[in-house]
Amino acid sequence: MRVGVFGTGDVGKTLGSALITLGHEVMMGAREAQNPKALEWAASQGARASVGTFAEAAAFGELLILSTLGAANPAVLTAAGAENLAGKVLIDTTNPLDFSRGFPPTLAVAGQDSGGEQVQRLAPEARVVKAFNSVGSPLMFRPNLPGGPPTMFICGNDAAAKAQVTALLGDFGWEVEDSGDIRSSRYLEGLCLLWVLRGAIHGQWGHAFKLLRA
Ligand SMILES: NC(=O)c1ccc[n+]([C@@H]2O[C@H](COP(=O)([O-])OP(=O)(O)OC[C@H]3O[C@@H](n4cnc5c(N)ncnc54)[C@H](OP(=O)(O)O)[C@@H]3O)[C@@H](O)[C@H]2O)c1
Repeated sequence: MRVGVFGTGDVGKTLGSALITLGHEVMMGAREAQNPKALEWAASQGARASVGTFAEAAAFGELLILSTLGAANPAVLTAAGAENLAGKVLIDTTNPLDFSRGFPPTLAVAGQDSGGEQVQRLAPEARVVKAFNSVGSPLMFRPNLPGGPPTMFICGNDAAAKAQVTALLGDFGWEVEDSGDIRSSRYLEGLCLLWVLRGAIHGQWGHAFKLLRA
């Protein structure tokens, strides 16, 4: 599958490399086609990795992943181009984190709205699925924890899109809990805060959530 990954940070590189490992083709999108971090990442990944602008990565991908700074979502999705997003599954890994009051952060958008809902409004014809937002990047691919596979909480409006992301998460080594439509981003983004808080309290970042079912 061809995947367009927006973002050159830890999440973009981690997910891009994981997808290459799983046999997919990945174009990393950035503000400039010659983004040095994207070029360095692609050079380390071999022939199935490439770089481009956000629009080029959006056009390239059959599946798209949004992994840029949460506050940049409007700029990134506008640059990607509505015509390149329409009809495609768009995995939203982002969190609207607000560090203005220090660390740990709060959410810049919360209550009756969320970053995930904003992303769906910014890309109304994309099939947005919130995922990967409540765990640190080192654990996103093949987490190896004593308690077994952790649980990835996902949400989105499109059942087929969530089924596709659920299958991908299985390839990544995760159990999946469908938490409803995109409005549930309000809770999934809160889960990110809890994940960060736990790391801040213990000074350790190797944790992930697991749902125990009856
Ligand atoms: N890091 C984690 O472990 C983790 C875990 C779960 C979720 N998340 C979420 O995933 C997202 C990515 O996190 P990250 O740590 O990989 O990277 P990040 O530092 O949050 O974001 C870096 C990316 O955002 C781009 N960017 C920054 N400002 C921009 C702007 N004004 N316009 C367009 N692009 C802009 C950067 O582009 P340039 O290369 O051009 O600077 C870079 O590609 C965030 O929303 C974060 O909250 C992170």
